[in-house]
Amino acid sequence: MDIDARPYRSVLYIPGSKERALDKARQLPADAIIFDLEDAVTPDAKEAARETLAAALAQGGFGARARIVRINALDTDWGAADVAALKDADIDAFLLPKVNSAADVQALADLVEDVPIWAMIETPMGVLNAAEIAAHPRLTGFVSGTNDLAKELNCRHRADRLPMQVALQTILLAARAHDVIAIDGVYNQFKDDEGLRAECEQGRDLGFDGKTLIHPAQIEVTNTAFSPSQEEIELAQRQIAAFEEVQRTGQGVAVVDGKIVENLHVDTARKILAMASSVAAL
Ligand code: COA
Ligand code: MG
Repeated sequence: MDIDARPYRSVLYIPGSKERALDKARQLPADAIIFDLEDAVTPDAKEAARETLAAALAQGGFGARARIVRINALDTDWGAADVAALKDADIDAFLLPKVNSAADVQALADLVEDVPIWAMIETPMGVLNAAEIAAHPRLTGFVSGTNDLAKELNCRHRADRLPMQVALQTILLAARAHDVIAIDGVYNQFKDDEGLRAECEQGRDLGFDGKTLIHPAQIEVTNTAFSPSQEEIELAQRQIAAFEEVQRTGQGVAVVDGKIVENLHVDTARKILAMASSVAAL
């Protein structure tokens, strides 16, 4: 599947050092996996994690799941070695943490020729420069790093994420302006399904393609929240049918359930149906 056409509803972090979790991932219904060499791996375990991860990727078995490797930033002691160890692995993208500018993306682009690059947007400077970062020709995905961002902003965690809204929407605006995938941040209380569901709904309402996850127990709720619902699918089908009907009489506006349907609404309806069929095809 083309990396841009596949669903990215559930994007699960797995510490590159955890062999058992890496093995388990081959069976989990996550759309994508972020194999982490950065913050989920302690400094003394970095080297071993690199080797464990390279071996797991060489062994394969991850099926249709997108494989994304989060390396350490290139200004750390580990970044360049992470790239060297994984650049020939069978992966779909490198994820670069704490990206502040397009120059940070270019620094990775200079080290790897043809692997797509994703960026964590998780610093105030990264948010302010989101548009130039998204515009980089090698950049294909954004991941919101809401924990780092909260730390940097000195904001408080709130259920409605009010202190995050400007940053989240800036990430989305930049992503959509440059046709980049946009993934929401993690929900830390991994045993709280109701809280997760509410945050997924908010992320979906905002326009995110999916959410990053820390635990397999979060996958099902997230997949449901980011899949078109049966109601949305049926409405999309009725909108398309109604629009095609009025078009035959030379009109450009239909009415469905008391609301107008114009060609732009039909585009959205078709997008919903396309997403529903790519989910069904997984
Ligand atoms: N990916 C794949 N499998 C995972 C997993 C993950 N992120 N987190 C847990 N599992 C597996 C465990 O290996 C365990 O498998 P087993 O039953 O075969 O042994 C099973 O799921 C149940 O795990 P559980 O005991 O509930 O969790 P835990 O206490 O072992 O771990 C965390 C909890 C939060 C430490 C762990 O989920 C984790 O490390 N998550 C990722 C954190 C991360 O990557 N952070 C960086 C980005 S924010
Ligand atoms: Mg981070």
